[in-house]
Amino acid sequence: MDNKSTNTAFEPHGLKEYISTDAIRGRVAELAAAIEKDILGREAVLVANLKGSFVFFADLVRAISRLDITLDFLSTESYRGTESTGVVRITRDLGLSVSGRTVILVEDILDTGLTMDHLVHYLYSNHQAHEVRTCVLLDKPSRRRVNISPDYRGFEIDNSFVVGYGLDYNEQFRNLPYIGVINPSANPE
Ligand code: IMP
Repeated sequence: MDNKSTNTAFEPHGLKEYISTDAIRGRVAELAAAIEKDILGREAVLVANLKGSFVFFADLVRAISRLDITLDFLSTESYRGTESTGVVRITRDLGLSVSGRTVILVEDILDTGLTMDHLVHYLYSNHQAHEVRTCVLLDKPSRRRVNISPDYRGFEIDNSFVVGYGLDYNEQFRNLPYIGVINPSANPE
């Protein structure tokens, strides 16, 4: 199947493929195997920070078959367009108790690091997690504003603004099946 933007609603945006569907699939399997190896024999709660991580999370949890895991979700807001506001707001909290448990916090992308840093502290202090590990599909270390690095990382990327595979630009492109970059000279409107 052709995943490129030819003859799709994405075409007018001048999207360029940055990481292919196949490359993502292979890396997600490796991340799942690494998590299984580290947590083997223990239980973990995998927590997705919505919305951006929803596709990654769905693929990751289905690639984990050797662990007893439970799943939960929270949501945060910090972005307007392509710029972080620097203030992280939790707009949906966990439904399950993670008190005394191992949590694997799953994020689409680690950019300034403000969201992940805030959530890790929040899970320890407000939810009394025993241990919080972090798993991100994408990491932009050059953009970091706090000292944090993920326990599990899919791909390190440069500081391009990327979309697709759950990631959005103003709520668009989440359904793109690969990671793409928008051509700034294309004008969809
Ligand atoms: P941070 O707090 O700056 O690390 O940003 C984390 C959140 O910003 C992510 O969960 C994304 O939702 C969003 N974000 C950061 N960079 C990008 C990008 O390149 N494309 C889409 N969303 C992004």
